[in-house]
Amino acid sequence: MVDYKLNKKLEHIAFIMDGNGRWAKKRLLPRTRGHKEACSRIIEVLRACKDLNIKVASLYAFSTENWNRPQDEIDKLFEYLDDFFNDYIQEFIETGVRVSVMGDITRLPKHTQETIEKAKKLTENNTKIVFNICLNYGGRQEIVRATKLIVEDIKAGKLDENELDTEKFKDYLYSSGLPEVDLMIRTSGESRISNFLLYQLAYSEFIFTPTYWPDFTVEKLIECLKEYETRDRRFGAIKE
Ligand code: IPE
Ligand code: IPE
Ligand code: MG
Repeated sequence: MVDYKLNKKLEHIAFIMDGNGRWAKKRLLPRTRGHKEACSRIIEVLRACKDLNIKVASLYAFSTENWNRPQDEIDKLFEYLDDFFNDYIQEFIETGVRVSVMGDITRLPKHTQETIEKAKKLTENNTKIVFNICLNYGGRQEIVRATKLIVEDIKAGKLDENELDTEKFKDYLYSSGLPEVDLMIRTSGESRISNFLLYQLAYSEFIFTPTYWPDFTVEKLIECLKEYETRDRRFGAIKE
């Protein structure tokens, strides 16, 4: 159990899990070894988020641009993802983790698609925390997809264009139904969002930490949460 009590509202936390390759390189290991180590941090961070009563944890695991990597690295990534779900599905079932996915998974290897669909199905009634994994996900692609769905609904008479506003738009995103992202953490020292949650991060707090993801322990997470607690979220308004 995590020995920390959050004293600021934090319903949805999002992570850009970056730096696996550099972590491995520093140790003269193959890049893929970094991805394997990353899986251990994912489960630890997820368990911690659950203990902290955070309702949603979104994790960027594979971007639409990551297809530009060598095929053997891509293959290994999906193999590890399969192993991850097989290793922890029973724990998710027993501890109330609901698996949710953002992104177009139809381009993923068949076996990975099956593993994910199974995990979603087996956990669909869980309510403790949503483990929202972003796979073949791109923020721009998500917005274009939403726009197409909106056009379809307008054409079909299911949506009146005058009803469309920034709130309604959210219904057409992968994240429909999830609370706003309160905090986004990117590891590895890069200060960019790399096509992650472009719509959803509008008023999120950002923390960019130099720690590589495979070194991002629960202690490091707590340090970030302490930093988040000091932030003054104004949402465009002013403080009295
Ligand atoms: C993040 O680590 C994992 C994915 C993007 C899939 P990287 O593999 O990008 O690691 P670096 O950035 O090269 O160190
Ligand atoms: C972002 O990391 C994508 C994921 C963590 C899945 P990248 O390593 O792909 O991003 P860039 O290339 O540094 O922007
Ligand atoms: Mg990277």
